[in-house]
Amino acid sequence: MPPSDKTFTRYQDLIKLHTGIYLPPHKKTLLHSRLSKRLFVSAIASYDEYFDWLVSSAGESELQVALELVTTNETYFFREPAHFEFIKELLDKQPKSGERFSAWSAASSSGEEAYSLAMVLQAYCFKPWELLASDINSSVISEAKKGIYINQRTSKIPPEFLNKYCRKGVGKFQGYLRIVPELRNKVKFDTLNLMSTLQDLGKFDLILIRNVMIYFDDETREAILRKLSKHLKPSGWLFVSHSESLHGVSGDYYSIKPSIYRLAAYRDEHRN
Ligand SMILES: C[S@@+](CC[C@H](N)C(=O)[O-])C[C@H]1O[C@@H](n2cnc3c(N)ncnc32)[C@H](O)[C@@H]1O
Repeated sequence: MPPSDKTFTRYQDLIKLHTGIYLPPHKKTLLHSRLSKRLFVSAIASYDEYFDWLVSSAGESELQVALELVTTNETYFFREPAHFEFIKELLDKQPKSGERFSAWSAASSSGEEAYSLAMVLQAYCFKPWELLASDINSSVISEAKKGIYINQRTSKIPPEFLNKYCRKGVGKFQGYLRIVPELRNKVKFDTLNLMSTLQDLGKFDLILIRNVMIYFDDETREAILRKLSKHLKPSGWLFVSHSESLHGVSGDYYSIKPSIYRLAAYRDEHRN
C-alpha cells in the first residue's frame, strides 16, 4: 500500500532535510515505487513503521539507502553539447601556464558528465588540470570510479575522443567500453552532499551543477548557490542545465548566456 498523505508529508520533510530534494504531492507514487521493495525485503508492513526505523539511531545506514533510492540519476555523455563547446573556447583563451585549472562536477551521477569534461580538458587545456566529481549517492560514485559503460550509452562521445580515451571491452566485457586509466586516474570521485558544509574543497575555475537543482525548491537552490559561490574563483564559471535558470533565485551570479554564469562580484569589479 502506498503511504497515506499524512505519512507522505513526513517523508517529504525527511528527504528535504537530508538531500534538499523536494517531492511535490504528485510524487507520492514515485516514492512508493522507489521504496516498496525495501519495505518488502526488510519485512516491514507499513511506511510509518519504515519511517520510524529510518529516524531511529539503528536506522542510520538504512536512511542512506532510502535517500539514494529517492535520487534520480539520469545522465549521459556530452549532455548539452553547447556547454562543452563553450568550455573548449574558454580553455583556448586561458594562459598556457600558471595556476592549475580546476573543475568540479558537483552532481556527477555515474560519471558521464565528469568524463566528458575530462576528455575536453585533456584535449584542450594546455596547463595542468584537476577535476573533482561528486554526488550524494555513493552507489553511482562507485560506478563512476570503475569508468565502465555499456556501448549503447556512449554514442554521444565524439569519435576522436572514443578513439583516444576509451577502450573496448573483451571477454565478459564485450559490449562495454572503459575510460582509459590516464583519464580515470585524473578524476577524483567522492560522495558529497551539497546540503552539508562544504569545507576544504578549495576554489574552482569551473563548476557544473546541472540537472540537480530542478529537484530543489527556491530556498534550497538559493542556499546551495550561495555556498557554491564561495568555491568559485573570482573569474570562475558556473554551468546549470539549459532547463534551469538562476533568474530570481540568486543575485550572486550574472548570466553570460543562458545557463552559464559568473560571479556578480567579478562583473562589478571589472565595471569600473
Ligand atoms: C539527474 S542527475 C544529473 C547528473 C549530471 N549532472 C547531468 O546533468 O547529467 C542528478 C544527480 O544529483 C544528485 N543529487 C541529488 N541531490 C544531491 C545533493 N543534495 N548533493 C549532491 N548530489 C545530489 C543525484 O544523486 C543525481 O545523481
